[in-house]
Amino acid sequence: MKLIKGGRVIDPANNIDTITDVVINDKGKIERIGAVDPALNFDTVIDAENLIVAPGFIDVHVHFRDPGLTYKEDITTGAAAASAGGYTTVICMANTKPPVDSLETLAELCSREKQLPIHVLQAANVTAGMQGKELTDMEALLAAGAAGFTDDGVPIADEKLLLQALKKCKELDVPISLHEEDPALMFSAGVNKGVVSDRLGLGGAPDEAEYVLVARDVMLNRKIGAKLDIQHISSGVTVDILRSAKKMGIKVFGEVTPQHLAATEELVLEKGSLARVNPPLRTEKDRQALIEGLRDGTIDMIATDHAPHSKEEKSKPLESAPSGMIGLETALGLVLTSVVRTGQVPLKRVIEALTINPAKLYKLPAGTLSEGADADLVIFDPEEKWTVGDSFRSKASNSPFIGWELYGKIKTTICGGKIVFRD
Ligand code: DOR
Ligand code: ZN
Repeated sequence: MKLIKGGRVIDPANNIDTITDVVINDKGKIERIGAVDPALNFDTVIDAENLIVAPGFIDVHVHFRDPGLTYKEDITTGAAAASAGGYTTVICMANTKPPVDSLETLAELCSREKQLPIHVLQAANVTAGMQGKELTDMEALLAAGAAGFTDDGVPIADEKLLLQALKKCKELDVPISLHEEDPALMFSAGVNKGVVSDRLGLGGAPDEAEYVLVARDVMLNRKIGAKLDIQHISSGVTVDILRSAKKMGIKVFGEVTPQHLAATEELVLEKGSLARVNPPLRTEKDRQALIEGLRDGTIDMIATDHAPHSKEEKSKPLESAPSGMIGLETALGLVLTSVVRTGQVPLKRVIEALTINPAKLYKLPAGTLSEGADADLVIFDPEEKWTVGDSFRSKASNSPFIGWELYGKIKTTICGGKIVFRD
């Protein structure tokens, strides 16, 4: 048995926020939350005084680049980065090489993912080859272990096809998550269309490329009611659309990334291609609207969009470098520093968005510290200040936050009762 002693235990699903002990039994389950007789014997005692103990984080949006692009990341290094960031469950996107659109690719990947120290789940594609022309066999892919469906990386342009996909996902009761950037409205990807793109002489990605497509897709789902998840929301107008849609009773969920909560388009001027991401970092007004959306529950989940790329790829000029940044190891620090310590979003909301909300959407047996649940948990110091360095557990180091001072450090991550990361 393991004892986590004297931490501030925060479990939003059970409305717990109290200083107490956590006991993990030999089956790797939560045995008890509550003060423990100090005379009892434990094989491991973790002192959590002045630390926070929470359910292990869940990230519904990571790119582990396996199969085919493992020079950027693979499932083993991706899982190591995740556990260092406090994550015990992640869902891998399907824009791999080949993409995860067939039973063969999915089954092979899932069997390897099952052997990792944390829960690494796999999404499959909505359309064959991510070409947006015909649907995959979603029913068979779901039966073979797909956690959800997405063509993340590219939007689905064809409304008729998307309607069919939404209907199928509704019938199967499985989430469908969408990357919303209408190619017809884009000039160039990765940098917001505005003062920064003008200064750099780039066409830029306007915010309407996102919110016009979001408006369309939310309305397409109005009569269907699939579990529609809007990925990496970057525009304040998108937040308004989601808020209205939810008021109208339309089923829709939203993700925001730590980078969109913490930074604006200005970062591109300083960090160049490292700050290039799809959808792009936008304006301070957008950033504030995202924070308000997270605070008021319009945005349900914080998801990193951990997108590793090699040094060589990212050292290309801004306009030809690939978009994306790693995010698992800086997520907590960025969020605590940029929205919790500023007093804008309560810590409990942030933990909800990192744990129980994604667990509910994906029907995962995780995201809480209920007695009897799997002992997936994270212990962190919300006050510890650290500087983001340039070495990561991830195979990649494409972070524009290297050099930033952050508050909030992961101390221990436990998955299924086993310690999978220690600072
Ligand atoms: O910037 C991005 N990079 N956005 C995405 O949606 C995909 C990701 C990637 O796969 O690199
Ligand atoms: Zn995406």
